[in-house]
Amino acid sequence: MHLRGAMGERTNRQILLVEKPAGRLAPEHFRLTQATAPAPKDGEVLVRLRYISLDAANRAWMQGATYRAAVEPGAVMAGGALAEVVESRADGFAAGDLVFADTGWQDYAALPARHLIKLPKITPLTHLLSVYGIAGLTAYFGLLHVGRPKEGETVVVSAAAGSVGSLVGQIGKIKGCRVVGIAGGREKCDWLIRQLGFDAAVDYKAANVFKELKQAAPRGIDVYFDNVGGDILEACLAQMNVRGRIACCGAISQYDGAPDAHGPRGVPGLIVVKRLVLQGFIVTDYFNEREQALADLQSWVAAGKLKVQEDVSDGLENTPRALIGLLAGENRGKRMVRVG
Ligand SMILES: NC(=O)c1ccc[n+]([C@@H]2O[C@H](COP(=O)([O-])OP(=O)(O)OC[C@H]3O[C@@H](n4cnc5c(N)ncnc54)[C@H](OP(=O)(O)O)[C@@H]3O)[C@@H](O)[C@H]2O)c1
Repeated sequence: MHLRGAMGERTNRQILLVEKPAGRLAPEHFRLTQATAPAPKDGEVLVRLRYISLDAANRAWMQGATYRAAVEPGAVMAGGALAEVVESRADGFAAGDLVFADTGWQDYAALPARHLIKLPKITPLTHLLSVYGIAGLTAYFGLLHVGRPKEGETVVVSAAAGSVGSLVGQIGKIKGCRVVGIAGGREKCDWLIRQLGFDAAVDYKAANVFKELKQAAPRGIDVYFDNVGGDILEACLAQMNVRGRIACCGAISQYDGAPDAHGPRGVPGLIVVKRLVLQGFIVTDYFNEREQALADLQSWVAAGKLKVQEDVSDGLENTPRALIGLLAGENRGKRMVRVG
């Protein structure tokens, strides 16, 4: 719903981060408020949000500065969104254009044009946030450029039923690998195998991950795509093959609440003995190769080799709940909130 005031100004609902959570994230850490939408300055563009992307990183940004500044109490909660230009005071953008930007959780944002990525109008639009957005590109570059799997190798991915993980596993299959997913719950694990074509899946909430992984990956692990860190990273490290690669994508087990006091055992001993490469990456490192990545992703989707799972809910006011639920493992595939 988009309201206009008596003077014709636009009402801008905003979700503020009230305080940084010391423990787990909860609804009381957020507050819904209303302001007037800003007028764009020279070189800026006013956008209206369509879909907010929910990302594990939203929670990590509350911990402190990462590859972006920390989110501070009292500020509009930070987050990426698919948005439509309503007014432009910058060259290259016109009303009606579709963009991706770090808009924050609100109806409208005025942003410098250089911070916007212009997007094509495709059907469904939501794919611009999932397979053709950060999630798809992270899976693609992280697996193929950092993990570098070869045909016949074993790839293991954690948070495997999430937005990045569900694509990593399928790309691993496209490249001819044995793929093992690690996810929370039997239903998610069955879904990975039956619907997405994973070879095996380990339910980390029910099983001894180390033991189950030994069965699921009997020839050891050549590539581990790590979305979670912590104990799961430790279990994988111990089963890596010589010259294996670990693509360090994220550490969701450490984001919500106090992180473990100790790191995974085996560092650096196992890295030395097995000549492992552990490499962190941020998806934007590879943005100059985005065209090729998008072309590959599109061809795999068109050929039915890559299934895109999306989890869309409605209403700006429900965004905090959607993030809290993502951290608790409610989602399958890419979670987002439809705003306008
Ligand atoms: N490096 C980059 O450029 C980049 C870019 C995008 C995302 N990322 C990273 O990619 C990872 C996935 O992020 P996403 O936004 O796509 O989220 P997501 O995978 O869609 O959702 C997060 C999933 O993580 C699982 N999870 C939550 N707590 C966990 C824990 N303690 N241990 C194991 N699994 C847990 C939950 O599923 P279960 O039911 O399986 O627990 C949840 O559904 C995050 O680490 C994120 O920081 C990195």
